[in-house]
Amino acid sequence: MDIPEPGAHEGSVLVEAIAVGVCGTDVEIVEGKYGWAPHGQPHLVLGHESLGRVIDPGPSSGLKKGDLVVGIVRRPDPVPCPNCAVGEWDMCRNGLYTERGIKEIHGFMSERWRIEPEYAIKIDPTLGILGVLLEPASVIAKAIEQLEMIGRRSFWEPRTVLVTGAGPIGLLAALSVKQSGFDVHVLDKTETGAKPDLVRALGATYHSGSVAELPFEPDAIIECTGVGQLISDSIGKIGANGIICLTGIGHGGAVRKTSTADVAAASVLRNNVIVGSVNANKRHWYKAAQILANADRAWLSKLITRREKPENFMSALERKPDDIKVVIQFSAV
Ligand code: BGC
Repeated sequence: MDIPEPGAHEGSVLVEAIAVGVCGTDVEIVEGKYGWAPHGQPHLVLGHESLGRVIDPGPSSGLKKGDLVVGIVRRPDPVPCPNCAVGEWDMCRNGLYTERGIKEIHGFMSERWRIEPEYAIKIDPTLGILGVLLEPASVIAKAIEQLEMIGRRSFWEPRTVLVTGAGPIGLLAALSVKQSGFDVHVLDKTETGAKPDLVRALGATYHSGSVAELPFEPDAIIECTGVGQLISDSIGKIGANGIICLTGIGHGGAVRKTSTADVAAASVLRNNVIVGSVNANKRHWYKAAQILANADRAWLSKLITRREKPENFMSALERKPDDIKVVIQFSAV
């Protein structure tokens, strides 16, 4: 459909879209299971994983024409709650936050979009199209910060980190944790192909069995699938004082029964923490931009396995077996 030129009220920075990444949340929105259109409007423009080129920086952004930028997804609630008031909109307490392309504000899936200068993150220009990975990387930067902050409750010297799931989030988690020098293990059901190769290229270890069978107890687990069985096995496997950070959102599925009292007993006796983590604030976007800037470009480029034209967006939403990250490309970098 034709979308009108973005209005000045959407932000003083005018951006030409380069690419928009597609993720499970977009599929859920299209299926009508999640997402909210802006009040009084019949539709929501999708797209929360953005990358664009500044066409008009406006009067006060500090940006220049041609800069590559990515738009922050979440906006603070208008009340605001204490967390939104201090810029921690990722921890919004009252649920009245909005999210571009997800909740009540249009996303970035249009040829031109506008953004408020304080929500535009300038990326290293040498990243080019790889900058579209910044949004998923920001979600991981927050998850890792959660692990670090919770770890500080006691003396904690984590060495072994397990990442469950080798999709884009899992692989970006492995990259980020590896950059901090940890012994990284990634577990996914895929046995061959790009995913194991990408994990090994990072210097991390790839596993395709079950979490329960792993021959070690991880100090931290970053769960990136939302699959019930993996979560329940992770609770049984995490080492003493270990932390499991859940980033995936799943839908039940067949799980061998673990009673809540057993989960509690295991967590109590070994001081374990299970923490959920969603979204990211500006600090996490900044850290994620550093992680991408420091990453090997050839490795990152293998994460983008398919580029579709905007007119083929329905095909971009379909999951194909070899897909890691699919992007819709609006213009050349
Ligand atoms: C996005 C987050 C968002 C979450 C919930 C995820 O796909 O990456 O930014 O907060 O969905 O709406």
